[in-house]
Amino acid sequence: MAKKFEIIFQPDGKRIKVEENTTILDASKEAGIDLVSICGGKGICGKCKVIIEKGELKQQLDDTELKFISEHEIDENYRLACRVKIRDNLIVRIPEESRTGKQRLQVEGIKTKVKLDPVIKKYYIKLEKPTLIDQTSDFDRIKQALKSKFDILNLRINLNLLKNLGELIRSYNWNFTVCIWDNEEIISIEEGDTTNKIYGYATDIGTTKLAGYLLDLHTGEVLAVGSLMNPQIPFGEDVISRIGHKEPNKLQSAVIDGLNKIFEEICEKANINPQHVYELVAVGNTSMHHLFLGIKAKQIGVSPYIPVISRGISVQNEYLKIKMNEFGRIYTLPVISGYVGADTMGVLLSTEIYKKDEICMALDIGTNTEVILGNKDRILTTSCASGPAFEGAHIQFGMRASSGAIEKIKIDPKTLDPEIETIDHVKPRGICGSAIVDIPAEMLKSKIIDVKGKMNYNLDSPRLRKGEKYYEYVLVWGKNSAFNKDIVITQKDIREISLAKAAIHTGTTILLQEFGINESDIDKLFIAGAFGTHINIENARFIGMFPEIPTSKIKTVGNAAGTGARMCLVSKEMRNIIEKISKKVEYIELGAHPDFQKVYLNSNYLPYADLSFYPETSNFLKQVGNFPEKKLHIF
Ligand code: FES
Repeated sequence: MAKKFEIIFQPDGKRIKVEENTTILDASKEAGIDLVSICGGKGICGKCKVIIEKGELKQQLDDTELKFISEHEIDENYRLACRVKIRDNLIVRIPEESRTGKQRLQVEGIKTKVKLDPVIKKYYIKLEKPTLIDQTSDFDRIKQALKSKFDILNLRINLNLLKNLGELIRSYNWNFTVCIWDNEEIISIEEGDTTNKIYGYATDIGTTKLAGYLLDLHTGEVLAVGSLMNPQIPFGEDVISRIGHKEPNKLQSAVIDGLNKIFEEICEKANINPQHVYELVAVGNTSMHHLFLGIKAKQIGVSPYIPVISRGISVQNEYLKIKMNEFGRIYTLPVISGYVGADTMGVLLSTEIYKKDEICMALDIGTNTEVILGNKDRILTTSCASGPAFEGAHIQFGMRASSGAIEKIKIDPKTLDPEIETIDHVKPRGICGSAIVDIPAEMLKSKIIDVKGKMNYNLDSPRLRKGEKYYEYVLVWGKNSAFNKDIVITQKDIREISLAKAAIHTGTTILLQEFGINESDIDKLFIAGAFGTHINIENARFIGMFPEIPTSKIKTVGNAAGTGARMCLVSKEMRNIIEKISKKVEYIELGAHPDFQKVYLNSNYLPYADLSFYPETSNFLKQVGNFPEKKLHIF
């Protein structure tokens, strides 16, 4: 029998016994410990740092650990939880910077009006009892009543519901309400008149968070909202780790548990009987969509990144077991490609780009940034591998948007001292996405970096110094941080941010090129997602992450994907529209585009190799004396 060891996780004091050779990361998952593991244990992110307080490791630091752990941290017994196997009883401390914390979750989204026409409908009927003369079967009797009273034809019924039908309608004394899905299938039979109790559940399954909305299908009103970190995170923070997981059914159960948790909470909040909720409409990126439906999705991670199915799907709840009405239905919006999913279709629907005369662009920024460009005549989409830098990975002090994260940075160009704001106004623990965009913009404005992103080490400031591995700028002195350590921005961080920005810029540029227009032709830019809600738009424009169009043309739309799901929940027409449009959407695979390399190299500059594209930023840089002396090389 395998040996077992006890691990105590501090500061929580949680104990767990695990088998020999289990990694500390796996043990932490089992113990339900809050430990960051952005790459899912692949040794890529370097965020799962823990301190070994007691016990023998019997394992030297490997090359991966040496890459991420500084000399000073080695002295303090830091290790990467995903690299170290347990071979002794241990006391392991999770340092503040390795905790996920409670993340700020975005549920609010753009409000777009739709005409109410839900797929779920209810009809109240009273039947004549059968007699020796009238020998019509129970099901035919219901069908005849619905046909003569409501003109509903060709109904079918779920077999499991049929099994009890005879008993049910007799116990209801032939006086009951029939709930019908899409004029096709009877999904519930309820005593008396319950026609005013008809609800639906819409959800956005994000890689990081789940958002849920309870809607009254009579009025279209949102009765309650809830959100939760995606419980799949311990299996890997990025989609590639998740779709490649050896037990995808565990990931499916995790997400369904999460959706059920939100569901129970919102039903309780709104005082609604979960049995009166008959449909769930879900959006999510293609990987989340496949994992939720239990479709094996490994192939999405390898070229040519093909999804298993792209059209919208409606399945019976019996397969997924959401805690709503057991015979209810689950509908997922269509997906376009391996990396343009049902969430992007939700954004397309709620921003109404598909019916606009003017040229619109929508950006949903994340590890993958989806771009939509078009109008009523033509729609292009793509997905850019912007990487996890804006979510805090690959940035030395990067973190998610949770308590203590620095969310705003402003640098005084004279003193080079920063002004920062943190979430919840507590001592800073790290830097989250919105401030990660501020970094290159504020550094460029104050001449700490040039348009190539190179730090100007000659500036006279104690904040600029040579760190252990790279040159760095001290954003917060240790005495002011939550864990008594200086929070710095390194030369490598700037490079990572520039690469992420370059990926987005490449996506937008190639779509514009394919459409045959320039940035200045964009009439409206929609910024979707939590990240977009908190970002400094001026700074995003300044570094070339957004086109240099007037800020009045830029609109943040919050969780627009969630709005799209809600629209499809209350309107059959919206489903038909998105199904139709999804077939017309043109997908551009950036990696296969002949200009990809060239545009990407040009986009590595801040804001862009051809500065004439960014006259406002250029003028500013000229004024402050940070304009390049020589013309930049344009590839
Ligand atoms: S390096 Fe350990 S989880 Fe990423």
